[in-house]
Amino acid sequence: MFNNIYHNKTVLVTGHAGFKGSWLSLWLKSLGAKVVGYSLLPDTEHRLYDVLNLRNLLDDDIIADIRDEDKLNAFFNKHHPDMVFHLAAQPIVRLSYSQPVETYETNVIGTLKVLEAARHSGTVKAFVNVTTDKCYENKEKKEGYKEDEPMGGYDMYSSSKGCSEILSSSYRRSFLADGQPFALGTGRAGNVIGGGDWAKDRLIPDCIKAFQKGETVYIRNPLATRPWQHVLEPLAGYLRLGQKLYEDGATYAQGYNFGPEMNKDVKVCEVAQQVASVWGNGKVEVGSSDGLHEATLLQLNIEKAAKELGVKPVYSAEQAIKITTDWYKAFYDNQVNMLDYSLKQIDEFVKSAQAKNLPWSL
Ligand SMILES: NC(=O)c1ccc[n+]([C@@H]2O[C@H](COP(=O)([O-])OP(=O)(O)OC[C@H]3O[C@@H](n4cnc5c(N)ncnc54)[C@H](O)[C@@H]3O)[C@@H](O)[C@H]2O)c1
Repeated sequence: MFNNIYHNKTVLVTGHAGFKGSWLSLWLKSLGAKVVGYSLLPDTEHRLYDVLNLRNLLDDDIIADIRDEDKLNAFFNKHHPDMVFHLAAQPIVRLSYSQPVETYETNVIGTLKVLEAARHSGTVKAFVNVTTDKCYENKEKKEGYKEDEPMGGYDMYSSSKGCSEILSSSYRRSFLADGQPFALGTGRAGNVIGGGDWAKDRLIPDCIKAFQKGETVYIRNPLATRPWQHVLEPLAGYLRLGQKLYEDGATYAQGYNFGPEMNKDVKVCEVAQQVASVWGNGKVEVGSSDGLHEATLLQLNIEKAAKELGVKPVYSAEQAIKITTDWYKAFYDNQVNMLDYSLKQIDEFVKSAQAKNLPWSL
């Protein structure tokens, strides 16, 4: 898998205590990497980081702020990482309305500080900056956004990630000619679902939290569509991009979209109904909107990642919703070891990718 590139490499993951960062750290460990994590703790009811006991599983981790240059540089100097996956962020659109300064400080200035720490480390060869599909100027258009379309963003979160993309491109031109000292790629993925996410204002966590207490879930934008995908899909994309950046440097030092097939998007109300039906006794109703702007249509064109990286969707939205709901059922039933259960989900995902002959999985 991934040409065995991660075996015995030191990989630094920022945001490893978050939802995607925890899954990525687990996958990297299973690939034989030495994984060191730098993150604050998410302020949520449960954390995947605790469920998987990542503190014990990883080679080192520190709970610290990426805006703290001294701690960041000390952590890089301690571990001499070969590769960096940068996921630490304030990732919630609605929170960015109440915390605009913090959102920009973390997502833009914090990203610049991580890039600077990598540049001065003298060891980093590949850097994947995780942004989002929301980095594009959203024109509510039907065709998916391609990588060379203008950056933008209506709300402060989206525009902070648009800025992180512009920053990456400028940083490349200013300091990383020919992919030296490291090659920098960016990953733009859509709405991700998967077990172990307890963030506020995300659809499936909101459904599970309500169903688990026997309450009805009220959804705000029932007809909005999103490019839903299982969390392991973009992670496979980031890992493949990291591999290519490490092996071939500047060739892949660009932005890549990772998302589901076009026109396979599912409406918010359909997702909630499917979660309810897999859960067994969940109730869904339409609630009132609080007036904050949320984009109604977001589609990504994923041809570039398919052509250049061989990254294509593995699961349908229905499979992703089922696997996600199963994970939460297993967690709340409290009968199985969730580390083993999560590793099994990674294994099944890889087997499905192999059955589709996806090059990263072979
Ligand atoms: N989950 C999604 O649907 C989705 C979609 C597209 C992009 N993304 C991007 O993926 C990345 C990971 O998202 P996630 O869903 O795992 O979010 P998350 O909130 O679960 O994880 C983010 C982690 O970063 C940490 N963090 C926040 N500010 C920090 C700071 N200043 N210093 C250090 N750590 C800090 C948080 O405490 C948390 O542990 C983010 O960059 C996000 O923008 C997520």
